[in-house]
Amino acid sequence: MTDTNIPVSVSDLSKVYKTRGGSVNAVCDISLQVKRGEFVTIMGASGSGKSTLLHLIAGLTTPTVGKIQINDNDIAKLSDAERTRFRCRHIGVIFQAFNLIPTLTAEENILLPILIDGTNHNRKEIREKLDSMLRLLEIYDRRYHRPDSLSGGEQQRVAIGRALLIDPAIILADEPTGNLDSTNSDNFCKLIRELCDKEQRTIVLVTHEKNVADWGDRCVTLKDGRIVDEQINNKNRKEVSA
Ligand SMILES: Nc1ncnc2c1ncn2[C@@H]1O[C@H](COP(=O)(O)OP(=O)(O)OP(=O)(O)O)[C@@H](O)[C@H]1O
Ligand SMILES: [Mg+2]
Repeated sequence: MTDTNIPVSVSDLSKVYKTRGGSVNAVCDISLQVKRGEFVTIMGASGSGKSTLLHLIAGLTTPTVGKIQINDNDIAKLSDAERTRFRCRHIGVIFQAFNLIPTLTAEENILLPILIDGTNHNRKEIREKLDSMLRLLEIYDRRYHRPDSLSGGEQQRVAIGRALLIDPAIILADEPTGNLDSTNSDNFCKLIRELCDKEQRTIVLVTHEKNVADWGDRCVTLKDGRIVDEQINNKNRKEVSA
């Protein structure tokens, strides 16, 4: 993958869902560019199109109109299988509904992208990374639990581990702290901020919480599928790098 300064670039993006009751304009004419090492947060009322936008960027759904470029790749031009491999290698996705596989244990869920990305990994290295991720997220002693025997916050941390284990250049997170207590939420935000500042990872994070959005560099607000506000926030970048 080429090293571009604009890893996420969407232009004139719209998504219309057709339903039996009619159609829903979930995302309308959105253009957004996210620079390498930038941490963008997305806010907006329920139903404003935040998850749809994130799923479009992740290549999990296709736009009705518009273009999505991830590291200079037009993802619409990839086949479904290519897009899945591309995502597993380069994009860590934390879903609003976790999307854990119920029959797999916590650690198997975390390992999933590595198992399907088509790359030959060093087993020992992966095991060490997995163990330190489980410890970092404080779920080491839950690693053999299946999702239905984990709390909401623990499931969320498994979903975070799964997204981060591959060291993705791009992290897309949908309400990643929604089920975490304030300590875990702060720890997660700190970790994401560090990945951004020290390793130039690119983050797009959806949140309802102002204190979470305050960790970002820029906050984009959606209303009825459109960008209605954009605020730059330099505060935390300075604090973290100080
Ligand atoms: N698969 C779908 N089929 C039809 N309509 C959908 C589908 N997914 C979402 N929508 C509709 O699209 C709009 C945007 O939904 P989306 O999930 O993107 O909102 P959101 O901002 O993430 O909301 P929340 O904060 O509640 O998670 C909503 O009106 C929703 O009902
Ligand atoms: Mg949502």
